[in-house]
Amino acid sequence: MFQVRPAIFLVAESPSDSSIAGYVVAFSVDEDGEILNVAVESRSRGKGLAGQMLDATLIEMAARGVRTAFLEVRESNVAARGLYGSRGFIEIGRRRAYYCRPVEDALVMRRVLRVADGEEERSASGFADR
Ligand SMILES: CC(C)(COP(=O)(O)OP(=O)(O)OC[C@H]1O[C@@H](n2cnc3c(N)ncnc32)[C@H](O)[C@@H]1OP(=O)(O)O)[C@@H](O)C(=O)NCCC(=O)NCCS
Repeated sequence: MFQVRPAIFLVAESPSDSSIAGYVVAFSVDEDGEILNVAVESRSRGKGLAGQMLDATLIEMAARGVRTAFLEVRESNVAARGLYGSRGFIEIGRRRAYYCRPVEDALVMRRVLRVADGEEERSASGFADR
């Protein structure tokens, strides 16, 4: 039986005018977490905000008992791939034509948060191209 917890919504405010500078949406079910979206307002990019928000999200996931975090990212999204790579996410698969407007593959990325014996191998081999 899975235990379902509330989604994780994280919002960063700009210190100058309290406008929304960025956000993260994620959720967890049992030992799996999924990052649904990370976005930073264009003027606030390149200052480490997304990295800080992602770190906080992964800490919250770990506190919930999540062992493995997953996400999908457009193959052409260099900035997001840089972000996720900087936080230890590795590419484990591809969902073909996952996105529309424009049609594009998604890369599936994974980060193991707490590795138990054999966990790394089991998670990697369990993913099938879908
Ligand atoms: C992707 C995005 C969230 C990054 O936000 P950001 O606040 O500029 O990112 P940060 O400044 O925190 O950078 C975090 C890491 O990502 C890397 N990164 C950020 N922008 C990058 C770029 N344009 N190219 C390559 N790497 C980049 C940085 O090198 C950094 O690594 P470091 O911590 O080792 O220095 C932002 O560009 C964005 O909102 N894009 C539009 C929405 C989007 O595509 N979201 C992802 C959906 S999957």
